[in-house]
Amino acid sequence: MVKDEVKKALESVQKAVQGDLNGTGQAHVDLLETIRKLSLAVETPAETLMRMRFEPLQSAAIRLALETGVLDAISSLGGKKVTADELADLTKYHALLIARIMRLVTWAGVVDEVGENTYAANEMTRLIVSPGLSGGEKHHFDLFFPTGAKLMEYLHETKVHQFPKDDEISAFQYAHGKKLWEYFDAVPEQRKYFDDYMAVRRVGLVKWFQTYPMAEILCPAAKRDANAALFVDVGGNWGHEVESFHEAYPDAPGRLILQDLPQTIEKVRRENPPKDVECMEYDFFQPQPIKGARAYYFRNICHDWPDEQCQIFLSNTARSMEEGYSRLLIDDYVLNDVQAPIRAAAMDLLMMLFCSGIERTRHQWEILLDRCGLEIVKVWGTRSDYEQVIEARLKE
Ligand SMILES: C[S@@+](CC[C@H](N)C(=O)[O-])C[C@H]1O[C@@H](n2cnc3c(N)ncnc32)[C@H](O)[C@@H]1O
Repeated sequence: MVKDEVKKALESVQKAVQGDLNGTGQAHVDLLETIRKLSLAVETPAETLMRMRFEPLQSAAIRLALETGVLDAISSLGGKKVTADELADLTKYHALLIARIMRLVTWAGVVDEVGENTYAANEMTRLIVSPGLSGGEKHHFDLFFPTGAKLMEYLHETKVHQFPKDDEISAFQYAHGKKLWEYFDAVPEQRKYFDDYMAVRRVGLVKWFQTYPMAEILCPAAKRDANAALFVDVGGNWGHEVESFHEAYPDAPGRLILQDLPQTIEKVRRENPPKDVECMEYDFFQPQPIKGARAYYFRNICHDWPDEQCQIFLSNTARSMEEGYSRLLIDDYVLNDVQAPIRAAAMDLLMMLFCSGIERTRHQWEILLDRCGLEIVKVWGTRSDYEQVIEARLKE
């Protein structure tokens, strides 16, 4: 007999399906959440615990399928069927190993299983082999799993809980021997996975332009001289966001500036400088040299750092802002006070482990910004499981 709890959960799914007309936005997030709750209502508690315990093995199988070239080989066939034996010929790994890995990979939906030990690429296969998304898988797996494995030892040995002081180390350092950014200097292939991932993970501003009246933000800038700074992408890495800004607003007047650490800027200049954007070496713990820009944009920067450090670099920016004109734009999660979506909650923990960072609630943002002499004008957001753009100005 179907439990009442299951019937209710199913009704919620049916209702949410009606609301999710175009598969985007908050209605889509709500539908996914009702499906998750239905699954929890159907599973016994023991089944749920068992499922969760085995989830890391799915990540291991996907990582192996990438490393062995199995996913590349399947994807390159463009939807044509391929057997484990044929994949063994193509990749030089044993057919039995491939078949074992592929049970989990196909269960996850990353590849279609179309017969016994026979596979075909689908949309997810094509996505996961792209440099950005395969970079994301490698970055997460290779850096998180060693950190996770050392976590209990770290907790007991160091007694550090969340935010290490100057003479203490982070969980990442404990596992990998270096801080995240220093680790990337020492292991260039991991820096490349990370940079590729950053460039595709989400083009926040484009989403933002499409949803919100960007003209409102840019309008006062139109009255300025074309030599005035319009948009500064601080810690912008490849400059993908400032570039997308330029593509969306090619005629917006003013200078577009990408700032990052010297080694990143050197790589950008050498490999793929964004068009019509000035690339500038800048350490954001130093005073901001660009004065009175219309917008200083920090995407996924503040969540890498505890409040103490954020206060230093946001205050550096605040000191360069022009009262009544400049805007600080922070593109990060604004956590719900209750029922935070899994992506935001997991990201919070990841930031804590990787760089002693934190995702913040609106109240926590308000306190931090207030300490830097700033106040929130508006939070621009589309759905609760995405990062949002906090627009702030100097306190009046
Ligand atoms: C999480 S990534 C975010 C990159 C980009 N904003 C995005 O969202 O794709 C953090 C960036 O901050 C840069 N960064 C770290 N410390 C910095 C510092 N002290 N000054 C300037 N940039 C820094 C890193 O090089 C990296 O590009």
